[in-house]
Amino acid sequence: MAKMWAGLTSGETSKIADDFNSSISFDCRMYEQDIKGSMAHAAMLSARGILSEEDAASITEGLAGILKDLKDGTLKIDPAAEDIHMFVEQVLTERIGDAGKKLHTARSRNDQVALDLRMYLREQIDEIMEKIRKLGRAVTGVAQKHTASIMPGYTHLQRAQPVTFAHHLLAYAMMLTRDLDRFSDCRKRMNISPIGSCALAGTTYDTDREMEAASLGFDGITLNSMDGVSDRDFCVELLNCIAILMMHLSRFSEEIILWSSWEFKYIELSSDYTTGSSIMPQKKNSDMAELVRGKTGRVYGDLMTLLTMLKGLPLAYNKDMQEDKEAVFDAVDTVKMCLDVFEGMISTMTVLTKRMREAAGKGFINATDLADYLVKKGLPFRDAYKISGGIVRECMAQGTVLEQFPLVAYRRFSPLFEEDVFEAIDLAACVERRISKGGPSEASVQQQLEIAERIFGGKK
Ligand code: ARG
Repeated sequence: MAKMWAGLTSGETSKIADDFNSSISFDCRMYEQDIKGSMAHAAMLSARGILSEEDAASITEGLAGILKDLKDGTLKIDPAAEDIHMFVEQVLTERIGDAGKKLHTARSRNDQVALDLRMYLREQIDEIMEKIRKLGRAVTGVAQKHTASIMPGYTHLQRAQPVTFAHHLLAYAMMLTRDLDRFSDCRKRMNISPIGSCALAGTTYDTDREMEAASLGFDGITLNSMDGVSDRDFCVELLNCIAILMMHLSRFSEEIILWSSWEFKYIELSSDYTTGSSIMPQKKNSDMAELVRGKTGRVYGDLMTLLTMLKGLPLAYNKDMQEDKEAVFDAVDTVKMCLDVFEGMISTMTVLTKRMREAAGKGFINATDLADYLVKKGLPFRDAYKISGGIVRECMAQGTVLEQFPLVAYRRFSPLFEEDVFEAIDLAACVERRISKGGPSEASVQQQLEIAERIFGGKK
């Protein structure tokens, strides 16, 4: 096929080169942004007297028709086209004639693709953020019901100190609040318009870049034309935000997988979000969580693709940069799917509080509280720590727990022990006494819930 850029050369390239060069199969998803960008460009050119009003009107009408036809399927994307920008311009010229050929005045595909990508991705950020809020609401919704559900908190995956399930879940809610913050920060820098940078060195026409940018909802314009066309920081930043969010979801997944195992059985996932085994009839596998964990690696790969693609590029545009889109689209599609699945999985799971409470009863997770009891009676913490360790060892040897250890036996370790020790090591009291800000006590958890609810918005 002869190219629109035929001129110096005949524009006849080999089929294999065409296939290799074409990006239409993946950049076609930006058709709406491309068309809206072109409409704004025509309006600006006409406002500056670079394009006649008639030509601008005919271009706008032609583009509106193409947009409508692409949306309703009357117009099919030509897989043989070089990219979405060429395709739209070609169809426009076929439909409206010579005016169509004037649209590309004072711009280049280099600033056009940078524009389209920013427009497309800022919408994606809005969608991702909405999904994060929805997941946040699901997580806090479950947490609300479990402010008194005691479970062991872990370090090194060893039972450590008592917390509540609400407190544990709210740790993930806090991660999601930071994710929201990161995405909105990323959006700020993304929402700057590169259009008008042209190929790399601006243009001799008296364009109005601010006007074009404002009409497309941008907050400002890029300040250096070479940077404008070659900057893909906004893609790297977005993938960084997505990678961190996926890392959070992956950690959460790991816990979901552990908690649904027979070894823990703290939760049971709804059958809507589990799969069976083709051979073992008893299996209920947490495939969704495993897939989220697995896809996290894939998203990290997308981030690395982008960083590596960019690291050796001289200014300004290089064709390598066409490789940005598949990586960034893959990450965006993946994280959106993961957020949807996660939300459903969390809001339909059954929480087995009895199992959590049982696990909390074993593992001496109130040993710190035992030491703190002695400290409050005047013993230095290190001495109290040693005595409590000795008591735990003794309990283990006898196959008992701190709650069942008789007072006389306690007193053999220290005369400071009195009847009130049992109140001090009661798990519910241990949690309640953890009044430090950000701790698991009911009051602190309520505060966390309020903040989370404010950030994630009301229940939908
Ligand atoms: N399809 C190209 C891309 O995605 C558009 C920009 C092409 N510019 C050029 N000078 N070849 O990067």
